[in-house]
Amino acid sequence: MTDIEKIHRPIRSFVLRQGRMTPSQQEAIQEGWPRYGIALSEGQEVFDWNKIFGREAPRVLEIGFGMGDSLIALAKQHPEMDFLGIEVHQPGVGRTLANAMSQELTNLKVFADDAIEVLKHVAPTSLDRVLLLFADPWPKKKHHKRRIVQDVFVEMVAQKLKLHGQFRLATDWQDYADHMLAVLDKSTSFRNCFGQGQYAPSPFERPITKFEMRGQKLGHVIRDLIYERI
Ligand SMILES: C[S@@+](CC[C@H](N)C(=O)[O-])C[C@H]1O[C@@H](n2cnc3c(N)ncnc32)[C@H](O)[C@@H]1O
Repeated sequence: MTDIEKIHRPIRSFVLRQGRMTPSQQEAIQEGWPRYGIALSEGQEVFDWNKIFGREAPRVLEIGFGMGDSLIALAKQHPEMDFLGIEVHQPGVGRTLANAMSQELTNLKVFADDAIEVLKHVAPTSLDRVLLLFADPWPKKKHHKRRIVQDVFVEMVAQKLKLHGQFRLATDWQDYADHMLAVLDKSTSFRNCFGQGQYAPSPFERPITKFEMRGQKLGHVIRDLIYERI
């Protein structure tokens, strides 16, 4: 990497370790992307969800869906709602597309880009709910700047939510939970549905995720946080 690249490289909340794609994940991407994938293109403006889904419905966005288990389960449980997922990890995208096809879901679309870039093209007040489940905790202090939950990100999410829409977060990392609580409690765009300084009961109306199970095995306490756009 050149010095110039280092200077201009944004701080990202992920490191792309693509890992190996199984043949079925690769196949799923080839077959499922035309049906479920949305690519960001140059000159892209904001997405028109009504046009993309062909209907008007409540819209839920999950950031960093990992292997997509919660996203698929929610989309299946709620055919009356439309689901959008963002994930940079290709094997996770492949697995999610495979499951979307086998379940014949018609209320799901997927982005395989950095959530920050996707959010730039999400129309203001066009989402009913945003989910951020077990975001990378970046435990070392020197890496805290990589945590996706920061003031600017929180305001970006706020801008995309409808009035009374919800931002739901969960983490198994207490230090990150405290950080989320501090950042969100002081935001004037959100109200903590369980009261300032309070976590929600866990799990709050959501399926258990892969990373949550990993955290549980390590004896971590799971924290859910629920905020309403005000
Ligand atoms: C710890 S994993 C949790 C995955 C899943 N939500 C779960 O609970 O099993 C965090 C995920 O967020 C994704 N991620 C992190 N930053 C992202 C970003 N800026 N845009 C899209 N995905 C991101 C990572 O690739 C990773 O798969």
